[in-house]
Amino acid sequence: MDMKQIRDAAREKLMPHCRVCPRCDGRACAGEVPGAGGMGTGESFMENVRALSAWKLNLRTLHDATPFDTTLDLFGITLTNPIMSAPLAGLAAHFEKKISEQEILEALLSGCQASGSLAWTGDGVNPAMFSASLDLIKRHKGLAIVTIKPRGVPEILKRIRMAEEAGALAVAIDVDAAGFHAMAARGQPVGPTNPDDIAAIVAATHLPLILKGIMTPDEASLAASLGVAGIVVSNHGGRILDASLGTADVLPGIAAAVKGKIRIFLDGGVRTGSDVLKALALGAEGVLLGRPMLIAAAGGGAQGVRVFMGTLEEELVRAMTMTGVASVHHVPSTIVARLTR
Ligand SMILES: Cc1cc2nc3c(=O)[nH]c(=O)nc-3n(C[C@H](O)[C@H](O)[C@H](O)COP(=O)(O)O)c2cc1C
Repeated sequence: MDMKQIRDAAREKLMPHCRVCPRCDGRACAGEVPGAGGMGTGESFMENVRALSAWKLNLRTLHDATPFDTTLDLFGITLTNPIMSAPLAGLAAHFEKKISEQEILEALLSGCQASGSLAWTGDGVNPAMFSASLDLIKRHKGLAIVTIKPRGVPEILKRIRMAEEAGALAVAIDVDAAGFHAMAARGQPVGPTNPDDIAAIVAATHLPLILKGIMTPDEASLAASLGVAGIVVSNHGGRILDASLGTADVLPGIAAAVKGKIRIFLDGGVRTGSDVLKALALGAEGVLLGRPMLIAAAGGGAQGVRVFMGTLEEELVRAMTMTGVASVHHVPSTIVARLTR
């Protein structure tokens, strides 16, 4: 199974909601939420891709940087590479039941685990799907990060207990889902999270807590002061606010504020191993991929995810070779330069 076969099979399954474009940049699917697109004008999704591609790699090959270390140490375990699958929920609604959320999640968990990495799971309008995802995590010996919607302390804690029981590695709250009116309309209200509540949640679990959807240095500093273990610099793939900045544009400022204090991850528009290396040079320790992982899982199941992960890892090592980076733990910011023309 190669990437072309995987992508062709995915196109069959996901059309018309995802066209599996040669470059997944949010143009063809602009405004398609439900669906795979970015909300409104689709600009926030497109901006993620533009922001990353405005950064270029400085080619340097006079070095002795080998062997290459791509491992990521994460909350007591070591992943083979710093590339993870982002939380994806509500797939039945977004793809009109053309794919089964359970099947995709199983493929993501298995495929990432077989690649030496891990998947994050999501939380949508269907509570049964959240429970089903935890059953899958148990089967995968807890190798997953469980993401919970900002539903208020009692509902979040209920789900954290389930994640603890399933043996999850960590939990996350996608705080940026605060404005998801569709959830409120279906009896699952979400909203902004009071910082005091975050501190209370941190104190109420032994699991590391990550806030997903941080886009400003001040909120990153606030998150660090509340005791969270990490943040994901993310605008939810452009699905929650139109006219948002691209994640690669805000990452350096956030890294300047909190790097070394809490773990920093990034998602949005990461498509290749070179993109991964750019994100690390800009201050992230690891990245999450959403739509491209969904395409790999839909088109090839767990094996598709494995093949895609293998491709990304190869591209990452090639980019490290060509920029003189021996380890993903030390990626100097000097390997990237920003286009200003
Ligand atoms: C169909 C779909 C469903 C998603 N569901 C969730 C979710 O349940 N929780 C969450 O935190 N993020 C969710 N996201 C956002 C992703 O986790 C991630 O932030 C985003 O897709 C990254 O951008 P990329 O797709 O350009 O890689 C979803 C994204 C898509 C496309």
